[in-house]
Amino acid sequence: MPVKWTADLSVKNETLDAEHQKWIEILNNFYQGLMDKKPKEKLLELVTAMLDYTKYHFASEEKYMKSINYPNLSEHQEKHRFYEAKITEYHQRIKDDKMVLSLEVTNFLKTWLINHIKGVDQQYADFNEKH
Ligand SMILES: [Fe+2]
Ligand SMILES: [Fe+2]
Repeated sequence: MPVKWTADLSVKNETLDAEHQKWIEILNNFYQGLMDKKPKEKLLELVTAMLDYTKYHFASEEKYMKSINYPNLSEHQEKHRFYEAKITEYHQRIKDDKMVLSLEVTNFLKTWLINHIKGVDQQYADFNEKH
């Protein structure tokens, strides 16, 4: 099942909401590619797009958090680095023909992303509202 952006995922910032929507779209494309058992070249393209956009979004979000003097920036950054490392690992696994389509992998990516936006990203939105 693809992931859907819904209003409860809003972090009350237009730019970052738009980035989250695009990010979800890219994740869904990767997920669909895995489900359709696309050839390795195509999967590498999709996972690279996911990695690139993830890095782009995290950098953008970290810049925003700095701009509002968000106190939990370093904790948040650690979580970002963890997810980037996971996608990098999947990229490598596809490259090495070691990617086994398992619900575990795809569910991990989807669950992490949604929980991150709902939980961790929401904290800077709440902080920004109170300050
Ligand atoms: Fe985010
Ligand atoms: Fe984040």
